[in-house]
Amino acid sequence: MDNFTETYDFLVAIIGSVPFGIIALDLDGEVTMCNELALTHLNIDKTVNGFIEKELLNYISAIPELPEILLKCLDKGRKPFNLSALSPNNRYLNIKGRPVLNGMIISTEDVTKAKEMEMANLTSMLEGQETERRRLAKELHDGIGPLMSTIKLNLDGVKTELSDKLPKAAKKIAAMEELVQTVATDLRSISHALMPSALIDFGLVTALQNLCMKANEIGETSVEFYHSGVKERLQPNMALGLFRITQELLNNAFKYAQAKTIHVQLIQHKDSIMLTVEDDGVGFAPEKLKELVDKGIGLQNIQTRTQTLGGTVNIETQLGQGVMTTIEIPI
Ligand SMILES: Nc1ncnc2c1ncn2[C@@H]1O[C@H](COP(=O)(O)OP(=O)(O)OP(=O)(O)O)[C@@H](O)[C@H]1O
Ligand SMILES: [Mg+2]
Repeated sequence: MDNFTETYDFLVAIIGSVPFGIIALDLDGEVTMCNELALTHLNIDKTVNGFIEKELLNYISAIPELPEILLKCLDKGRKPFNLSALSPNNRYLNIKGRPVLNGMIISTEDVTKAKEMEMANLTSMLEGQETERRRLAKELHDGIGPLMSTIKLNLDGVKTELSDKLPKAAKKIAAMEELVQTVATDLRSISHALMPSALIDFGLVTALQNLCMKANEIGETSVEFYHSGVKERLQPNMALGLFRITQELLNNAFKYAQAKTIHVQLIQHKDSIMLTVEDDGVGFAPEKLKELVDKGIGLQNIQTRTQTLGGTVNIETQLGQGVMTTIEIPI
């Protein structure tokens, strides 16, 4: 055996035993070395030896974003890449590409377990939030609400007693009564925002109608709601999820968009339900999206909620041209 063969076999043995997939390519994109794990991850039906000298590009069409990124890395610029992708076997992969002198090295890692853990954590966090909101809403509505009514009734009684003898004091009491009424109304709307009773009593369409109507009363922005084909009773989780997503999207539009109009649409198709929130405000550069998602927790929560319902999120935007977010959930 010559030195080259020995070194080659040694390398093959090493990459065969690492816990992630490895594929080495020459500058023409042909495989010079690989291990079994890489073939498993990318669902390539070949043996390690049978894959040598094959052109990788012909085998990765199942991961749509990979071919273009790979060509770029092999061609001019030759920058490294990091990609998170769904594998053809519906597993989450981290795929990294690093240019080397005479080609590039691609590594693949199955991160499905970590992703599932992350999802489970986020889901239980969201569930915890909902339980806490429900508790707070109940406490405010059933505990403090009636107390406020009692205070108001008592003030009313005192006001009537004082009205003849001490009209000035009675006037002050009337003002206090008004304040108590304002606090009671505010409390009521806080408790409804925490856990919208319309959602429980009348379903998602009515709850969204109320939400948009209330949003319409704030500032100059007009909020229009349109719905079509929505069945009366959606699964409670789906209804609550879509309600919370709309709340967050409306909040964002109010906070950032400076929009004239916000359109909220809920449409039920045969196999899916689609929520769209579209504003005609300032928008943002689409390439900023990832950075913005990391900035707050609103968009991340929207993604998690949608994922836990088995759906997809699509955000379309251009600087100066508003934001349109579409959530599609299979039913
Ligand atoms: N409709 C919109 N128009 C313009 N920019 C938006 C819009 N929605 C979101 N953004 C931008 O995206 C960023 C991220 O939104 P996200 O909801 O995740 O976080 P946040 O609203 O800043 O904070 P949080 O939701 O955690 O209170 C916002 O800070 C804002 O810059
Ligand atoms: Mg937000």
